Amino acid sequence: MLATCPFSKKLEQLVDSVEAAPPSMAFPLMPVGQACDMGHGADGVPLIDPRIFDSWEFMRNPYPYYRIMRDHYPVFRDKLHNCYYVTRYQDVTDCYFDDEGFNTIPKGSSSGVLGNTQLELSGIEHKRRRNLYGQHLVGQSLDLRIPVIERLADEWITGWDQQAWEGTAVRDKNGVRTVEIGKAFANEFPISVVCGVLGFPDEARGQFYYWYNSMMAGLGGSETQKQGLEARQDLEDYVGELVEARRIKPTYLLDKDGNQVGKDIISKLCETKIDGDYLSTEEITSNIALVVGGGGETTRGAILNMWYLLLQHPDQFARVLGDETLWDAVFHETLRHSTPIGGQPRHNSFDLTMHGVHVPAGSLMNMVDFSANRDERIFKDPGIFDIFRDDLYTGKLLRSGFAGEGRHSHMAFGVGPHLCPGAWIAHQEATIGSRILARRMKNPRIRVSDMPKDIDGVSLAPMGLISVRELWLDYDLA
Ligand code: HEM
Repeated sequence: MLATCPFSKKLEQLVDSVEAAPPSMAFPLMPVGQACDMGHGADGVPLIDPRIFDSWEFMRNPYPYYRIMRDHYPVFRDKLHNCYYVTRYQDVTDCYFDDEGFNTIPKGSSSGVLGNTQLELSGIEHKRRRNLYGQHLVGQSLDLRIPVIERLADEWITGWDQQAWEGTAVRDKNGVRTVEIGKAFANEFPISVVCGVLGFPDEARGQFYYWYNSMMAGLGGSETQKQGLEARQDLEDYVGELVEARRIKPTYLLDKDGNQVGKDIISKLCETKIDGDYLSTEEITSNIALVVGGGGETTRGAILNMWYLLLQHPDQFARVLGDETLWDAVFHETLRHSTPIGGQPRHNSFDLTMHGVHVPAGSLMNMVDFSANRDERIFKDPGIFDIFRDDLYTGKLLRSGFAGEGRHSHMAFGVGPHLCPGAWIAHQEATIGSRILARRMKNPRIRVSDMPKDIDGVSLAPMGLISVRELWLDYDLA
């Protein structure tokens, strides 16, 4: 349940601590989809013991517990963790739209590692900061970035053939190539896209990965927080120098043939004026760590989850191979079924009563996107992965979300004023990258022997609250 912060490492720490805990501390591990018995109230309603949220069982099999919450405790008061959970789709949507009633201040979500970010602002200042970057990630600006995404995806995948790989991410035997597409593609491809569109020089990419990884490791107030804070400071200093240089000489993005396809984001920001004044260097650098942090882990998770789910549904995969436009549906259905971001914290600005539960002003209210995406009030058989489902909206992403003609948008990017500004570019990265991957791999299949298993020791492990971390595939070389 701690997975409510978009860029948090808390989940991984929790996984480690739960794995280290003696089994007697854990709740029983249940078949996926079934909840363990935590007792019943006098009215026969199943109870929720909030200690479950810290358990390995919940981590791997959260959805039956969310269902109990949606059905019986749509606003669940968790006295142990001193917070509330909002689990129904409609309620989560309403709260996200009400930026005044459910504010984002102070989230403290990044423990200072990402700086003073727009994630934790509301109102006019939030809008102003968001627009500075957001405008370069949508519409015509995004169209200009697509050749860059194509070029980078192509370079990564072509690299499998041309580079002598260190480690075991790619290996060939008897006409079959085995590849771990996390290491070989998904982990760093999104970072290279963000790095590229922002306008970092190619030679700085290695350094950029170091900063990114250090910031990610530093999230969540862990021992590595200091390293994360320093990395963010170094990144901002570096960007500061870059900004000064770009003010004099802007730089351009290149497509795969080396043609210029518009200025990079840092160069564009150097030209931006507000009320007649150019943006200060501080204004340009201050949100950069957030864009960097927001654009990596999330999109990596989306790509790996897409492939993990799709390859477990070979009939749907075959249809996608026959019609590449279906990658859009794969992207959206994956984000509905198994989003990399579980939800968002909000604080209620005023006293309120929701579903009969009184919530004093200033309480931490967790909006659970994981649960909203599986709300049977909105999506039929929500646990089933079906790219052809007729109740999911898979059209152009809208900040307002979509509800109409029997379809709803998923909640993976949030909705309303804070809707992820990287949603459009993440969509392009995941679908373009997947299209190119699918063209290059003949008959790809999950290498089950190398993948984590579920409690029966045979089936593939469920994703639960955690995106796929490693995905081993085999494909034919001939
Ligand atoms: C599949 C990939 C992604 C997912 C699932 C995702 C999800 C989210 C979510 C749930 C939020 C929080 C919304 C809220 O507080 O209500 C968010 C915010 C944000 N994301 Fe993403 N994101 C993804 C990719 C990206 C990318 C590629 C970028 C940058 C290039 C990015 C940049 C941001 C930023 C800057 C914010 C803060 C927005 C604000 O507070 O106004 N994200 N994202």
